[in-house]
Amino acid sequence: MLRARVPALVLLALAAACSRGSTTSPEPAAAASATGAPRTSLGNVMVQVGRRFEIAGRAAGANRFDLAAFEVGEIEEMFEGDVPSAEMPKEGPTAHIPAMAKAFLDGNAPALRKAAAARDRAAFTAAFARAAAACNACHQASEKAFIQVPTEPGKAVPDLEPLPAASAAPR
Ligand code: HEC
Repeated sequence: MLRARVPALVLLALAAACSRGSTTSPEPAAAASATGAPRTSLGNVMVQVGRRFEIAGRAAGANRFDLAAFEVGEIEEMFEGDVPSAEMPKEGPTAHIPAMAKAFLDGNAPALRKAAAARDRAAFTAAFARAAAACNACHQASEKAFIQVPTEPGKAVPDLEPLPAASAAPR
Protein backbone atom coordinates (compact mmCIF):
# COMPACT_ATOMS: atom_id res chain seq x y z
CA MET A 1 0.00 0.00 0.00
CA LEU A 2 1.07 3.55 -0.59
CA ARG A 3 0.05 4.71 2.86
CA ALA A 4 3.56 6.03 2.73
CA ARG A 5 5.31 7.92 5.43
CA VAL A 6 8.19 8.09 3.01
CA PRO A 7 7.80 11.10 0.72
CA ALA A 8 10.03 9.58 -1.92
CA LEU A 9 7.45 6.86 -2.42
CA VAL A 10 4.80 9.47 -3.02
CA LEU A 11 6.92 11.19 -5.62
CA LEU A 12 7.61 7.85 -7.24
CA ALA A 13 3.91 7.13 -7.30
CA LEU A 14 3.27 10.48 -8.91
CA ALA A 15 6.01 9.91 -11.43
CA ALA A 16 4.57 6.50 -12.21
CA ALA A 17 1.11 7.97 -12.54
CA CYS A 18 2.48 10.54 -14.98
CA SER A 19 4.46 8.17 -17.11
CA ARG A 20 1.68 5.61 -17.40
CA GLY A 21 -0.14 8.05 -19.62
CA SER A 22 -3.68 7.79 -20.81
CA THR A 23 -4.14 4.13 -21.64
CA THR A 24 -4.09 2.47 -18.21
CA SER A 25 -5.80 5.06 -16.05
CA PRO A 26 -9.16 4.04 -14.66
CA GLU A 27 -12.15 5.95 -15.96
CA PRO A 28 -14.09 7.17 -12.92
CA ALA A 29 -16.54 9.39 -14.74
CA ALA A 30 -18.89 6.54 -15.56
CA ALA A 31 -19.40 5.61 -11.92
CA ALA A 32 -19.69 9.16 -10.73
CA SER A 33 -23.25 10.25 -11.13
CA ALA A 34 -25.13 7.22 -9.85
CA THR A 35 -27.61 9.46 -8.04
CA GLY A 36 -28.36 11.40 -11.20
CA ALA A 37 -27.46 14.62 -9.38
CA PRO A 38 -25.62 17.18 -11.48
CA ARG A 39 -21.90 16.92 -10.94
CA THR A 40 -19.71 19.76 -9.75
CA SER A 41 -16.88 20.65 -12.06
CA LEU A 42 -13.35 19.79 -10.99
CA GLY A 43 -12.54 23.49 -11.32
CA ASN A 44 -15.10 24.37 -8.65
CA VAL A 45 -13.82 21.65 -6.33
CA MET A 46 -10.32 23.04 -6.90
CA VAL A 47 -11.40 26.55 -5.89
CA GLN A 48 -12.22 25.06 -2.49
CA VAL A 49 -9.09 22.93 -2.36
CA GLY A 50 -7.03 26.05 -3.05
CA ARG A 51 -8.75 28.13 -0.41
CA ARG A 52 -8.44 25.43 2.22
CA PHE A 53 -4.81 24.75 1.36
CA GLU A 54 -4.00 28.45 1.73
CA ILE A 55 -5.79 28.63 5.08
CA ALA A 56 -4.07 25.45 6.30
CA GLY A 57 -0.66 26.97 5.54
CA ARG A 58 -1.46 30.30 7.15
CA ALA A 59 -3.00 28.57 10.18
CA ALA A 60 0.08 26.43 10.81
CA GLY A 61 2.25 29.53 10.55
CA ALA A 62 0.07 31.14 13.22
CA ASN A 63 0.27 28.10 15.55
CA ARG A 64 -3.41 27.45 14.84
CA PHE A 65 -2.80 23.77 14.29
CA ASP A 66 -6.37 22.70 15.05
CA LEU A 67 -7.54 24.93 12.22
CA ALA A 68 -4.78 23.60 9.96
CA ALA A 69 -5.80 20.02 10.80
CA PHE A 70 -9.46 20.85 10.10
CA GLU A 71 -8.68 22.33 6.68
CA VAL A 72 -6.43 19.41 5.77
CA GLY A 73 -9.22 17.02 6.79
CA GLU A 74 -11.60 18.85 4.47
CA ILE A 75 -9.08 18.66 1.62
CA GLU A 76 -8.72 14.94 2.29
CA GLU A 77 -12.50 14.48 2.11
CA MET A 78 -12.61 16.38 -1.16
CA PHE A 79 -9.92 14.15 -2.67
CA GLU A 80 -11.83 11.12 -1.38
CA GLY A 81 -15.24 12.02 -2.82
CA ASP A 82 -15.61 15.30 -4.68
CA VAL A 83 -12.53 15.06 -6.88
CA PRO A 84 -13.21 11.52 -8.18
CA SER A 85 -16.87 12.29 -8.86
CA ALA A 86 -16.29 15.76 -10.35
CA GLU A 87 -16.93 16.57 -13.97
CA MET A 88 -13.56 16.64 -15.72
CA PRO A 89 -12.36 19.77 -17.51
CA LYS A 90 -13.29 19.88 -21.17
CA GLU A 91 -9.95 21.36 -22.18
CA GLY A 92 -6.60 19.69 -21.72
CA PRO A 93 -5.64 16.10 -20.84
CA THR A 94 -7.49 14.42 -17.96
CA ALA A 95 -6.47 10.73 -18.08
CA HIS A 96 -3.78 11.21 -15.42
CA ILE A 97 -6.16 12.85 -12.95
CA PRO A 98 -7.58 9.78 -11.11
CA ALA A 99 -4.16 8.26 -10.35
CA MET A 100 -2.56 11.55 -9.35
CA ALA A 101 -5.55 12.44 -7.16
CA LYS A 102 -5.29 9.02 -5.47
CA ALA A 103 -1.55 9.50 -4.87
CA PHE A 104 -2.29 12.85 -3.24
CA LEU A 105 -4.99 11.26 -1.06
CA ASP A 106 -2.83 8.31 -0.02
CA GLY A 107 0.46 10.11 0.52
CA ASN A 108 0.28 13.88 0.81
CA ALA A 109 -2.95 14.33 2.73
CA PRO A 110 -2.04 11.97 5.63
CA ALA A 111 1.42 13.55 5.96
CA LEU A 112 -0.16 16.99 6.31
CA ARG A 113 -2.77 15.69 8.76
CA LYS A 114 -0.20 13.96 10.97
CA ALA A 115 2.08 17.00 11.08
CA ALA A 116 -0.83 19.25 12.02
CA ALA A 117 -2.03 16.80 14.70
CA ALA A 118 1.50 16.68 16.14
CA ARG A 119 1.64 20.52 16.05
CA ASP A 120 5.00 20.08 14.35
CA ARG A 121 5.72 23.22 12.33
CA ALA A 122 8.84 21.83 10.60
CA ALA A 123 7.10 18.60 9.59
CA PHE A 124 4.08 20.58 8.41
CA THR A 125 6.25 22.92 6.31
CA ALA A 126 7.98 19.94 4.68
CA ALA A 127 4.68 18.13 4.03
CA PHE A 128 3.23 21.37 2.64
CA ALA A 129 6.09 21.73 0.16
CA ARG A 130 5.69 18.12 -1.00
CA ALA A 131 1.92 18.54 -1.28
CA ALA A 132 2.33 21.74 -3.32
CA ALA A 133 4.71 19.88 -5.65
CA ALA A 134 2.00 17.23 -6.14
CA CYS A 135 -0.62 19.94 -6.81
CA ASN A 136 1.67 21.54 -9.37
CA ALA A 137 2.60 18.23 -11.02
CA CYS A 138 -1.06 17.58 -11.75
CA HIS A 139 -1.66 21.14 -12.95
CA GLN A 140 1.29 20.79 -15.32
CA ALA A 141 0.04 17.42 -16.57
CA SER A 142 -3.36 19.06 -17.09
CA GLU A 143 -1.79 21.82 -19.21
CA LYS A 144 -2.65 24.29 -16.45
CA ALA A 145 0.92 25.02 -15.35
CA PHE A 146 -0.05 28.66 -14.80
CA ILE A 147 -2.03 27.55 -11.73
CA GLN A 148 0.99 27.56 -9.44
CA VAL A 149 0.64 26.47 -5.84
CA PRO A 150 3.30 28.06 -3.63
CA THR A 151 5.52 25.57 -1.82
CA GLU A 152 5.81 27.81 1.23
CA PRO A 153 2.93 28.04 3.71
CA GLY A 154 1.48 31.51 4.20
CA LYS A 155 1.23 32.65 0.58
CA ALA A 156 -1.83 33.11 -1.59
CA VAL A 157 -3.11 29.95 -3.35
CA PRO A 158 -2.76 30.04 -6.28
CA ASP A 159 0.46 32.05 -6.36
CA LEU A 160 -0.16 35.70 -7.22
CA GLU A 161 3.36 37.03 -6.73
CA PRO A 162 4.17 39.34 -9.66
CA LEU A 163 6.11 37.75 -12.50
CA PRO A 164 8.78 39.67 -14.42
CA ALA A 165 7.07 41.90 -16.97
CA ALA A 166 8.43 39.89 -19.94
CA SER A 167 6.78 36.64 -18.71
CA ALA A 168 3.60 38.53 -17.99
CA ALA A 169 3.28 39.74 -21.57
CA PRO A 170 0.53 38.11 -23.61
CA ARG A 171 1.70 35.18 -25.70
C1 HEC B 1 -5.13 15.14 -9.74
C2 HEC B 1 -4.89 16.41 -10.34
C3 HEC B 1 -4.86 17.63 -9.46
C4 HEC B 1 -4.32 17.75 -8.22
C5 HEC B 1 -3.59 16.70 -7.39
C6 HEC B 1 -4.55 19.10 -7.82
N1 HEC B 1 -5.20 19.79 -8.78
FE1 HEC B 1 -5.78 21.74 -8.70
N2 HEC B 1 -6.55 21.59 -10.56
C7 HEC B 1 -6.53 20.47 -11.35
C8 HEC B 1 -7.10 20.78 -12.64
C9 HEC B 1 -7.27 19.82 -13.80
C10 HEC B 1 -7.48 22.14 -12.60
C11 HEC B 1 -8.14 22.96 -13.72
C12 HEC B 1 -9.63 22.72 -13.68
C13 HEC B 1 -10.32 23.38 -14.86
O1 HEC B 1 -9.80 23.30 -15.97
O2 HEC B 1 -11.40 23.95 -14.64
C14 HEC B 1 -7.11 22.62 -11.27
C15 HEC B 1 -7.34 23.91 -10.84
C16 HEC B 1 -6.94 24.42 -9.61
C17 HEC B 1 -7.15 25.76 -9.16
C18 HEC B 1 -7.83 26.89 -9.96
C19 HEC B 1 -9.30 26.87 -9.69
C20 HEC B 1 -10.01 28.02 -10.40
O3 HEC B 1 -10.87 27.70 -11.24
O4 HEC B 1 -9.70 29.16 -10.12
C21 HEC B 1 -6.63 25.86 -7.90
C22 HEC B 1 -6.62 27.08 -7.02
C23 HEC B 1 -6.10 24.56 -7.58
N3 HEC B 1 -6.30 23.70 -8.64
C24 HEC B 1 -5.49 24.26 -6.38
C25 HEC B 1 -4.93 23.02 -6.09
C26 HEC B 1 -4.21 22.73 -4.87
C27 HEC B 1 -3.93 23.71 -3.77
C28 HEC B 1 -3.84 21.43 -4.94
C29 HEC B 1 -3.07 20.61 -3.95
C30 HEC B 1 -3.44 20.71 -2.57
C31 HEC B 1 -4.34 20.90 -6.20
N4 HEC B 1 -4.98 21.89 -6.87
C32 HEC B 1 -4.15 19.60 -6.61
C33 HEC B 1 -6.03 19.24 -11.02
C34 HEC B 1 -5.40 18.94 -9.82
